[in-house]
Amino acid sequence: MAKIIVVTSGKGGVGKTTSAAAIATGLALRGNKTVVIDFDVGLRNLDLIMGCERRVVYDLVNVIQGEAGLNQALIRDKRVDNLHILPASQTRDKDALNLEGVEKVLDTLSKDFDYILCDSPAGIERGAQLAMYFADEAIVVTNPEVSSVRDSDRILGLLASKTRRAERGEEAIKEHLLVTRYNPARVDSGDMLNLDDIREILAINLIGLIPESEAVLRASNQGVPVTHDADSDAGQAYTDTVARLIGEEVPLRFHLYEKRSLLSRMFGGGRR
Ligand SMILES: Nc1ncnc2c1ncn2[C@@H]1O[C@H](COP(=O)(O)OP(=O)(O)OP(=O)(O)O)[C@@H](O)[C@H]1O
Ligand SMILES: [Mg+2]
Repeated sequence: MAKIIVVTSGKGGVGKTTSAAAIATGLALRGNKTVVIDFDVGLRNLDLIMGCERRVVYDLVNVIQGEAGLNQALIRDKRVDNLHILPASQTRDKDALNLEGVEKVLDTLSKDFDYILCDSPAGIERGAQLAMYFADEAIVVTNPEVSSVRDSDRILGLLASKTRRAERGEEAIKEHLLVTRYNPARVDSGDMLNLDDIREILAINLIGLIPESEAVLRASNQGVPVTHDADSDAGQAYTDTVARLIGEEVPLRFHLYEKRSLLSRMFGGGRR
């Protein structure tokens, strides 16, 4: 039986797709058979970030509407053996997904995979609710700004009330906080919320902190999830996050602002 994890946020553009791709890659690199599903019907970003956009023939909507089998739509990642992608459709019909169809797809995948990651669309509407409905765990992606934290709080409300586990009165979805685009210098100068404030407001377990990093842009331009960039801060931060997700204890990195001394500024002591 696979563990179903939704990557969700409320606010748009906070790093859900980046995180879903990076975490799925990390889980697969650790030997877990993993599939990552793009629930963002109409936008279809995951295949670009995973670098498989030219190989998309069938998608989640085709499978749900009976136009293709699951095996026809699943794309095998070209870098990591046990990683698969189920792309979203470019149809403009946001109602193309339905609960029964999604349940069937997840049930079938569940038999074959260890982890199913669901990359949610932004917002608190139907698409986001479908992506989270069957989840066992949720990664709530949050940026260090008030609007993002507020929308994450809304998502926590939905996770606790509008999911299968909530409706059946089962054990609650395990919620994890993933803070992304964290810039310690801007936090230090008061432009952004600091980690402690975010944790205090949302009060859920912190699974990782991803720094604001040029490596993410580079990775998405190349269609290679940033986890593969093992020298980069963001790549290392996602690898740490994956380790915590599978139960390891890893100390937090990249959250402190290192004030540079006058000497190091004068002599340019290289900070990446
Ligand atoms: N750690 C980071 N450092 C720098 N840029 C980042 C980081 N994480 C994400 N980004 C950038 O932020 C933008 C949005 O990222 P992404 O598409 O992953 O967000 P999203 O939450 O999936 O968006 P949407 O709500 O539209 O689905 C992208 O340009 C991405 O490259
Ligand atoms: Mg996205």
